[in-house]
Amino acid sequence: MKIGGKFKVIMLSMVLAVSSLYVMPIQFSQTIVAQAKGDQGEAAFDQKIISRISAERIYEDVHYLSETIGPRVAGTEEEKFTANYIKERLLSYGYEVEVQDFNIPDLKVGHLQTDNGDEVLVNIPSGSAATTEEGLTAELYDAGLGYPTDFTEDAAGKIALISRGELTFQVKVENAIAAGSAGVLIYNNIDQAGPLNPSITNSPLPVGGITKVSGEALLEDVASRNGTVTLKVNSISNATSQNIIAKRAPNKGGNHDILHVSAHYDSVPFAPGASDNASGTAVALEMARVLKSYPIEKELRFAFVGAEEIGLVGSHYYVSQLTEDEIDRSIANFNMDMVGTSWENATAIFMNTVDGQANIVSETAVATAERIGTPSELVLYQRGSSDHVSFHDAGIAAVNFIRREPRTANLEPYYHTPLDTIEHISEERLKEAGDLVGASVYSLIRKN
Ligand code: BES
Ligand code: ZN
Repeated sequence: MKIGGKFKVIMLSMVLAVSSLYVMPIQFSQTIVAQAKGDQGEAAFDQKIISRISAERIYEDVHYLSETIGPRVAGTEEEKFTANYIKERLLSYGYEVEVQDFNIPDLKVGHLQTDNGDEVLVNIPSGSAATTEEGLTAELYDAGLGYPTDFTEDAAGKIALISRGELTFQVKVENAIAAGSAGVLIYNNIDQAGPLNPSITNSPLPVGGITKVSGEALLEDVASRNGTVTLKVNSISNATSQNIIAKRAPNKGGNHDILHVSAHYDSVPFAPGASDNASGTAVALEMARVLKSYPIEKELRFAFVGAEEIGLVGSHYYVSQLTEDEIDRSIANFNMDMVGTSWENATAIFMNTVDGQANIVSETAVATAERIGTPSELVLYQRGSSDHVSFHDAGIAAVNFIRREPRTANLEPYYHTPLDTIEHISEERLKEAGDLVGASVYSLIRKN
C-alpha cells in the first residue's frame, strides 16, 4: 500500500527547517478550563472505561494506518482500503455498520519528471487543467514571482517556474496564461517538507506545486541548460469517498438522545497522517470497542468520515443525511482530530468550538478531567477547521479535541507534511485522549 518511496535526488535533499513550519497563532482568547489535579479518585463508572482503553491497541492502529497504509487521500484506493479496515473492525465488535458513499470533486493526480529521469514530488490543485497521457514536456521559464514584467516573449510555450510570495497563486497563473505559458509550477519560498499546495480555480493550464528545494534545484539543474521537464496531470472523475457509521441504541426502544463521536480518516497527499488523523481514528475505534459492552441510555453513533481534508466533505454529508428528528435528538459531537502528537510543546488538549463558547461537550470533558485527573490542561478555544464545524452548523453542540501548544496555539511542525509519522506519536497521549473522551461519552450515555 505504500506509495511514493522512490524520491530521487531532488527530494532527498529536502531539508526541514522546523521553525518555519509553525502554524502562526491566531489570537483568540484562550481559557484554561481544567488543570492537572492529580488523581481525584475517579468514579466507578470512569474506571469501567479507563481500565479498558488500551494504549497499545490505539498505537497499533495508528501504526497500521500511517505506516502500512500510508497517505489516505480522499477518493484514492488507500482511502477506500482504510474505510474497509474500519468497517471490518466495527463489525468485529458487533456494531451495526453503515457505509455511506458520496461524490467528491474530480481528483487531480500529478507526476513530474526531469529529462534526467529525476522525479519531483508535485501537488496538483483541483482547479488545474489535466494533460494528455503523455503529459506536457517543455522547457522551464524562470518567471520570478510571476509579475507581468517577469515574463518576456521567451516564456511562450514553456512551463513557467514561479516562486511563492507577494501575489496570489491565482494571479501568478493568470499572468503566465497571458504570457502564453504552457504550464505552471509554483515553488515554495519557505522550507516545508511536502510540496506546496497552491489553491487555484479553473485554470486552462496544468498547474503544480513543489517544494522550495525542488524549485531551486530545477532552476539550477534544468532551466540553466535549457533542459525539459514532463508534467502529467490526470483527472480522476466521478471520485467518491465514504463515511463508515456504527450505531448502538439502548435496549429498550423509543426515541433517545444521540451522541456522535467523529474522526476523519483521510489525509493530505504525501502525509502518512499519523497525527492527522490516524490518531483520532484509532482512539475512536478503541472507544467503540470498550463502549460496546456496557448498558446505555442514549444512542451512540461513531462517524468515521472521509474527505475532511478537501473541505469537511464527509462530515457535511453525514450531517446532511440525518433526519430533522435525528438532528433534534442529537445532543453532542465529540470530534477527535490530532490527539496524539509527541511534540513536546503540545502540552495542552484544546477544545475547539466554532463560537469559542463552552457547551455540553466541553463541560462534560472538564468534569471528567477533574474526576479522572487528566494530566494535560484543557483549553477552550475558538477554531473551526475540522469536522465539528459540520455538526455545529446543524445546531449540534460540538467540540474538536486537538493537542496544541498552550498560549501560542501552535500545532506540531509535522502538520500536513511527510513527517507526520508514527515517530512523532505518543502512546501515552493517545491513551490520555481515549480516557478523557471515552469517559466523557460514557458519563453521558451510561445507564445509572
Ligand atoms: N487536522 C486539521 C485540523 C485543524 C488544524 C484544526 C488547525 C484546528 C486547527 C484538519 O485536518 C485540517 O487540516 N483542516 C484544514 C481545513 C479543512 C476545512 C480542509 C485546515 O485547517 O487548513
Ligand atoms: Zn485533520
